[in-house]
Amino acid sequence: MFAGMDFMDTRRKSTSPRRILLVAAAITVFIIIFKKSPGFGGSSKFSEHEPGVTHVLVTGGAGYIGSHATLRLLRDSYRVTIVDNLSRGNLGAVKVLQDLFPEPGRLQFIYADLGDAAAVDKIFKQNAFDAVMHFAAVAYVGESTAEPLRYYHNITSNTLTLVKAMAAHGVKTLIYSSTCATYGEPDKMPITEDTPQFPINPYGKAKKMAEDIILDFSKTSNMAVMILRYFNVIGSDPDGRLGEAPRPELREQGRISGACFDAARGIIPGLKVRGTDYKTADGTCVRDYIDVTDLIDAHVKALANATPGKVGIYNVGTGKGSSVKEFVEACKKATGVDIKVDYLDRRPGDYAEVFSDPSKIRRELGWSARYNLQESLSIAWKWQKAHRNGYN
Ligand SMILES: NC(=O)c1ccc[n+]([C@@H]2O[C@H](COP(=O)([O-])OP(=O)(O)OC[C@H]3O[C@@H](n4cnc5c(N)ncnc54)[C@H](O)[C@@H]3O)[C@@H](O)[C@H]2O)c1
Repeated sequence: MFAGMDFMDTRRKSTSPRRILLVAAAITVFIIIFKKSPGFGGSSKFSEHEPGVTHVLVTGGAGYIGSHATLRLLRDSYRVTIVDNLSRGNLGAVKVLQDLFPEPGRLQFIYADLGDAAAVDKIFKQNAFDAVMHFAAVAYVGESTAEPLRYYHNITSNTLTLVKAMAAHGVKTLIYSSTCATYGEPDKMPITEDTPQFPINPYGKAKKMAEDIILDFSKTSNMAVMILRYFNVIGSDPDGRLGEAPRPELREQGRISGACFDAARGIIPGLKVRGTDYKTADGTCVRDYIDVTDLIDAHVKALANATPGKVGIYNVGTGKGSSVKEFVEACKKATGVDIKVDYLDRRPGDYAEVFSDPSKIRRELGWSARYNLQESLSIAWKWQKAHRNGYN
């Protein structure tokens, strides 16, 4: 506005050398301010490497896990660029993070689709990343069986695009969000990193293929790669700043924690537990529930231990399986609500029992889970109670 007023003045009156100088100065100030604003492709803090500062590209940073990762990275003095197409995440989470870290050069948000190779290349051209944490994905097992092509495109093909951009622009550290779904339904529990991977649904297959792309590429480059295979992620920021807020239309697809809380708040009439005839102690599926704060701690340790030319593959789970029935009981206790439960037939693509052997990540990265199921649900419930409509 200041520059505009000055410019209008110069058009009405005759131009004096003093006035020309003033206009030039104002335009210069405007350009400097504009260039420093987040998202501008020129020389902002994000576009240049800075000694002592690690700039991490967080794909899917508006999502549940990516937003928690961004919070931790910013708290630990990293510089973060989020790239997200907001197809599933929440701009509200990004706003929370921006309000917490408003200083220039801390956090920028770029709205882009990883399926758009030209846009991805431009982002890498305009920003000086030191590392990538690749969270962005569609991530529902049931949906993947109904829409397989969407999953292969969004997970496998987009990971290829991202790795190509990293290679082209010399970004040498990748932390990849993989999943225990890549193991399928192994005969032996617990699952170690050497358990053969035979995924049984398109989600797991798409993630396995993305892993293969990364692993094959890593053999030809000196990229530092960490592949983290998460088990079932629950919980939220213990200080109540972020939570899990899937879109209403995804609730039906959704994860058990979201459904439990929705039932406790009366948003849905009750819980639908799918499958009571699995070969498990109480007939319901057994999963390994890992707290999101613990999970992000594993990412930060993975980043700190990433070594050029080396690949680390780690399970991130507690090592303890809990049945769906146990989960529901813990949820009732956390919320204080006697949630109504309906028991239905199995859901296609689900497996009976999955829990991790986390000894490798403990031994090599010094990581261990701190939160148990009850604690995670109690923390998450506080945020859910305070944010009935998610981030809105
Ligand atoms: N939540 C779990 O229990 C779990 C378990 C194992 C692995 N994972 C993996 O963790 C990662 C994060 O999962 P989440 O639970 O936070 O999911 P989420 O849906 O909350 O977040 C994913 C984010 O990625 C974004 N995104 C999706 N497609 C994109 C695209 N083409 N371009 C740009 N952004 C895009 C979405 O808008 C969203 O913000 C995923 O890779 C998922 O497969 C999650």
